[in-house]
Amino acid sequence: MANLNAGVICMIFLSLFLSISNAGKSLPFYKTKVIGADLKVSKLHFYVQDIAGGDNPTVYEVARASITGNSTVRFGQVKVMDHLITSEADQASAVVGRVQGLITSADLGVMGFATNLNFYFTTGEYNGSTISIVGRNEIGQATRELPVVGGTGLFRFATGYSISSTYSYDAATSHSIIEYTFYVKTAGARLKNIEHEFL
Ligand SMILES: *[C@@H]1O[C@H](CO)[C@@H](O)[C@H](O)[C@H]1NC(C)=O
Ligand SMILES: *[C@@H]1O[C@H](CO)[C@@H](O)[C@H](O)[C@H]1NC(C)=O
Repeated sequence: MANLNAGVICMIFLSLFLSISNAGKSLPFYKTKVIGADLKVSKLHFYVQDIAGGDNPTVYEVARASITGNSTVRFGQVKVMDHLITSEADQASAVVGRVQGLITSADLGVMGFATNLNFYFTTGEYNGSTISIVGRNEIGQATRELPVVGGTGLFRFATGYSISSTYSYDAATSHSIIEYTFYVKTAGARLKNIEHEFL
């Protein structure tokens, strides 16, 4: 009985000590959950209609540097774009979405862009979802690789890369068709709805 009482008193002191030592400390601002391998990989393939001339261009210059006019690589030029994405190379094929963002000529030696693009999907189960890419795009290369840095909707937790190449160019209308293939690692069902697990 004496031992039991001693144990109870010990526990009371211990909890008293713990509550005093925690006084003034705030709760951690983050919580962690172990989810495991709740991932999937998707391949996406489509075409971007890049129209720089004609009556309805989908890309415009917004700024340039003092050097841009005399630079063979248009160094310092910044352009904003909102291009149509189609399922096939034909501009009249099914609409997939839009690609919106900025390209900056950021290489003094060759034509190379620092890109910041959001692929905004507007059809089917992907309607409203986005994938963002940021990276270096050396336009003179036959194929260009850019990193996928994130996404929303069906593409939450996206990482991966895109491979792009110029499919065709019509000088008369300044219309380039760019072929894109994406390999994207995204969340499985549990990760995609992770907010519910922290309620
Ligand atoms: C381009 O170079 C020419 C000749 O050197 C010079 O007169 C002109 O001011 C330069 N223009 C720009 C935008 O730097
Ligand atoms: C995509 O979603 C928007 C907003 O919910 C809706 O107005 C539009 O009709 C949808 N488009 C397709 C092709 O499902």
